[in-house]
Amino acid sequence: MAEVVVAERREHVGIARLNRPDARNALSIEVMEMLCELVEAWDRDPEVRAIVVAGSDEYFAAGADIKAMRERSFQEALVNPMTSYWPRLASVSTPMIAAVSGYALGGGCELALTCDMIVASETAEFGQPEIMLGIIPGGGGTQRLARVIGKQRAMELVLTGRRIDAQEAFRMGIVNRVAKKKEWLDAAVELADVIARRPPLAVRFGKQAVLAADETPLKAGLDNERRLYELSMGTEDRLEGMSAFIEKRRPDFKGR
Ligand code: CAA
Repeated sequence: MAEVVVAERREHVGIARLNRPDARNALSIEVMEMLCELVEAWDRDPEVRAIVVAGSDEYFAAGADIKAMRERSFQEALVNPMTSYWPRLASVSTPMIAAVSGYALGGGCELALTCDMIVASETAEFGQPEIMLGIIPGGGGTQRLARVIGKQRAMELVLTGRRIDAQEAFRMGIVNRVAKKKEWLDAAVELADVIARRPPLAVRFGKQAVLAADETPLKAGLDNERRLYELSMGTEDRLEGMSAFIEKRRPDFKGR
């Protein structure tokens, strides 16, 4: 049987492709476990410097597995491993880019928002339709969406379940780039590849520092940024980057 998450490597970029076509890539426990294990393994591998999470042309992911959720008791929901996957994905230090073509709904939209950037096909559709099922988003949707697009707009999407297309998502700041229909994955890998060519330690510090902007008051965020900046000054790569600039040559970063 085919794997529900397929791993691919293009040089220093790891590509995780959700592969559950019969269920529109619904995020079953098996999918989430495999995805977490894969990106965590890549996070420990210095050869992988950026990660792309993708689905197929037709769907990124149609959300949590509704059929499995229908059978889950209230007690099971309270100790549901599903809730443990989101913090695992959010703890990955390697930059993650969601490459979204087709539907990114419910948990699918939350998965894209858990990534650090989103490249969307012009066919992409985002939405938090959980309200139609009698629940609310449980994978960070209310929080991450509100931080990205603001309270009023997040409120509308969460309370109505309305879907938005790639252009509207771009205007709202959810999406970094909109790519042509056949080019969405290459566009995401291209962005990942640019990041993969930057000094890996500085990239990790930069990710950590930007994420702190959402999570801390300004003063604490600035203190954290200063410490991370100081750490970057202790790396060999910064000497290489500065020397290469002065010597007018391309830098050769080693991740040290
Ligand atoms: N979970 C389980 N199965 C799903 C699914 C899901 N989220 N989405 C689709 N499927 C299954 C369908 O049940 C159907 O299976 P059968 O062939 O056995 O009937 C199969 O995938 C194909 O689905 P459709 O016929 O509906 O396909 P479509 O192309 O016409 O429509 C779609 C695609 C718009 C994505 C539609 O399937 C849909 O609306 N899916 C549900 C979206 C949704 O409500 N997501 C939120 C889930 S809750 C959540 O995510 C909670 C959270 O925050 C963590």
